Amino acid sequence: MQRFAGQVAVVSGTGSGLGKATAERLASEGAAVGCLDIVDAANEQTVKDIEAAGGRALALHCDVSNADSVRTAVDGAASELGRVQVAVTCAGIGRFWNSHEMPSADWQRILGVNLTGTFLVCQAALPYLLDGGGRIVTIASNAGLMGQPYSAAYCASKGGVVNLTRALASEYMTRNITVNCVAPGGMDTPIQNDFSSTLPEGASLKELHRIMTPMGNSTPQEIAGVVAFVASDEARYMNGSIVSIDGGLTI
Ligand SMILES: NC(=O)c1ccc[n+]([C@@H]2O[C@H](COP(=O)([O-])OP(=O)(O)OC[C@H]3O[C@@H](n4cnc5c(N)ncnc54)[C@H](O)[C@@H]3O)[C@@H](O)[C@H]2O)c1
Repeated sequence: MQRFAGQVAVVSGTGSGLGKATAERLASEGAAVGCLDIVDAANEQTVKDIEAAGGRALALHCDVSNADSVRTAVDGAASELGRVQVAVTCAGIGRFWNSHEMPSADWQRILGVNLTGTFLVCQAALPYLLDGGGRIVTIASNAGLMGQPYSAAYCASKGGVVNLTRALASEYMTRNITVNCVAPGGMDTPIQNDFSSTLPEGASLKELHRIMTPMGNSTPQEIAGVVAFVASDEARYMNGSIVSIDGGLTI
């Protein structure tokens, strides 16, 4: 399948996990991919892996929580690779806190990367998408659709991504742009260590059972396959959708 032949995509969070898997999947289907991540070495490795597989990609340093950094990276992708038609916002962070103990700097950081960062990447990509059409895929989480203990900032940020998606979808509906959201459940990536290593003392594992499913984790590649479908012309009629792929967690 070469659903993205001749297209340019920007993907954030490409140094690891879902962002890396998505960049690799889009590149394997013909996209030239602008890879945006704050960790340069990991991001450059992703680009090397894509090139080794015969694809085209460019590593761009980017802190998604910083508007200037995002604008420079997305404009850089467009000037090197061509008009951006697809934007996927995978960059995300998270950890557990007892809400009554969470420092406000951590709240700001999680909201800054997950929610503001998602908006900033969309905002920087939109001028290119408006010039001929395109697709945005945001990444939320089951945590944006249900409560999750010790995760007030993460849940708030992902719930924000869900409704940010709907807002942008309705705003650009008549401009040949679709905006949809993929909401994964547990995925086998390093972010899970950031959560498991910060479980507050005395936290109840019983409460955490509600965020686990008998189906276990997905791989990032499984989720990237859904992201690629939503980003492709096969999903032309899908707009403002929140696509859960979470092993039945949010049934
Ligand atoms: N892994 C899961 O269980 C799970 C479940 C649901 C949703 N998600 C979401 O999927 C997305 C991808 O997460 P993942 O599991 O691949 O995690 P990951 O930790 O493997 O990858 C996250 C990537 O984002 C990058 N990043 C972090 N801060 C950044 C910033 N300020 N600017 C640019 N890049 C930055 C990191 O360097 C890393 O490469 C996230 O939005 C996450 O919230 C993950």
